[in-house]
Amino acid sequence: MSELRNNIFSVGAVDWNVRDFHSFDTKRGATYNAYLVQDEKNALIDAVKAPFAETLFRNISEKTELEKINYVVCNHCEPDHSGALPEVMKRLTNATLLCNAKCKDVLAAHYDIADWKIQIVGPTDRISLGTRSMMFLNTPMVHWPESMMTYIPEEKILFSNDAFGQHLATSVRFDDQWDLPEIMREAKAYYANIVTPYGRQVLKTLEAAKDLPLEMIAPSHGLIWRKNLGTILSAYSDWASGRYSAKVLILYDTMWESTKKMAEEIAKGAISVSSGLDVQPIHIRKTSLTRIATELLDTPVIAVGSATLNTLMMPMMGAVLTYIKGLKFRSKSAVSFGSAGWGPGGPESIAKWLEEMNYPLVAPMIKSKFLPTPEVLDQCFQTGITLGKLALEKAKQNE
Ligand code: FEO
Repeated sequence: MSELRNNIFSVGAVDWNVRDFHSFDTKRGATYNAYLVQDEKNALIDAVKAPFAETLFRNISEKTELEKINYVVCNHCEPDHSGALPEVMKRLTNATLLCNAKCKDVLAAHYDIADWKIQIVGPTDRISLGTRSMMFLNTPMVHWPESMMTYIPEEKILFSNDAFGQHLATSVRFDDQWDLPEIMREAKAYYANIVTPYGRQVLKTLEAAKDLPLEMIAPSHGLIWRKNLGTILSAYSDWASGRYSAKVLILYDTMWESTKKMAEEIAKGAISVSSGLDVQPIHIRKTSLTRIATELLDTPVIAVGSATLNTLMMPMMGAVLTYIKGLKFRSKSAVSFGSAGWGPGGPESIAKWLEEMNYPLVAPMIKSKFLPTPEVLDQCFQTGITLGKLALEKAKQNE
């Protein structure tokens, strides 16, 4: 168990082997962080997923008796944090649950809260623990409407719940004890797949947090930020404002490799524009949705292609486009391509989706009848050049 500061401990659980977190590909596992603050009064900040309740109780019991906890803070009701609350409220017999009004409603929709002692708190409240105190920031939609964060001003620690988290199971708890590029890769995957639709609210949260003196950010997933706070705050600002990288993503599905050949030719064209471009042809049936969304987050330009199956795109491409649409990424310039045999379908159905998502189509659709001819491959190469140049321009607009 790690100590963040004098008598503030991490008491949550590490889920080493979770590999699917409601469709998030948690290839490195996950953690459900909870924190114990010991003072004249004791507080538990957040709980854990239901199956990890005993781990939570064991960790708390190493430091104090369960009956000596005075407050349980619920920053967010999603069951990965609230699942253990029914057991927590039963066994922490002297605890009052602190949450905002929306949170109480959401808790009531999930659990029988009739016997829970609940105190509603908001941004103007300050709960004294003795030498330290807890303040609260409402952060709606980061990640649910009731989400909030808890701040201990005397320690300059922000308990940020989902924000700034990563799905990364490790034996250490702090960012300076692990490889920073890996933490940032996982933080980006987490942001892209969970937080992207709420970028505007993230910017508001960053604005509110700007005035807080901060020495530590303790999220509810992954490692605690005590050294690289500037890195994660600036990355969130970039991701939430939709900053583009010099990048071209080519997403495709293929049946007999015609569409694959086209994708690779588009990639060659884009690569020929500049060695400074990140160009990635991605076969979507060999790549997780999680990775696709992570790569899409900062991509300004995409080509999307599919072979034709029963007059439509191939079905996994439908799943990818559904996922992308829901995540509401900043608009991307796009082109559709693909092959067909005796009738149209694949690239045409993709183009409809792209238009529906308001992704401007910046080059004519590229179609191949069965195998791509040299003329079709040349069109792919030239389109790749167009996309590459556009990606460079878009990335420059950030400067
Ligand atoms: Fe980690 Fe929105 O729950």
